[in-house]
Amino acid sequence: MPTPSPFANPIFCAIDRPDLPGALALARALEGAVGGLKVGLELFTATGPDGVRAIVAQGLPVFLDLKLHDIPNTVAGAVRAACTLRPAMLTLHAAGGAAMLRAAVEAAGPERPWLLGVTLLTSLGPADLAATGIAGPPEQHVLRMAELCAACGLDGVICSPHEIAPLRRRFGAALRLVVPGIRGAGDARGDQQRTMPAADALALGADLLVVGRPITAAADPRAAAIALLAGLPRAA
Ligand code: C5P
Repeated sequence: MPTPSPFANPIFCAIDRPDLPGALALARALEGAVGGLKVGLELFTATGPDGVRAIVAQGLPVFLDLKLHDIPNTVAGAVRAACTLRPAMLTLHAAGGAAMLRAAVEAAGPERPWLLGVTLLTSLGPADLAATGIAGPPEQHVLRMAELCAACGLDGVICSPHEIAPLRRRFGAALRLVVPGIRGAGDARGDQQRTMPAADALALGADLLVVGRPITAAADPRAAAIALLAGLPRAA
């Protein structure tokens, strides 16, 4: 059973950009305003492990969102390599299956980052799911993927705000719930389909919120992050 979240500020800002100087400037600007930073495929592909090391060196916890999905042996190697970068969290696609997820847990060892399974991208809606050959509503698929993650020993899952309540009902506190797709009433949705305001997602039981463009596309990202935090019930 996980202990209470060690992150007093539940907002992790997704630094989705390809240049390290810009990413570092954003990381510095957000210090004290967010609980951590998320490094995803765009920044990782453009700047590599050195980019991650530079962001980690800024001092905020880093969520390394590589969404690993390959055969078990390859994912195990990638997890070992990723863990040397000292992220606080690392993602894998739950759809990679039980053997892949178990290999990741074993490769990460005991002093590991939170290993989080991506259940279903928040950019996918029911029609997209059907087009990939998966029958049933997104919630059913997310619960099935979360079941797999829990059985394989992962620490938690990534889910849309709309699946927080059913996941909490099913798993209680046994899984961390890390939630992207956060949008306020005035925010552009962009490519996200299953969205919700931050305060509502926390009230439903999210452990951490991943927020990208509502912060990074603002004229003043630090001010946007502080305003978001001020609107949250858990804000100090
Ligand atoms: O800009 P926005 O707030 O939409 O950013 C959301 C972030 O969360 C992106 O970095 C995206 O890669 C990530 N994410 C997601 N849906 C998932 C898993 C991760 O949107 N299921």
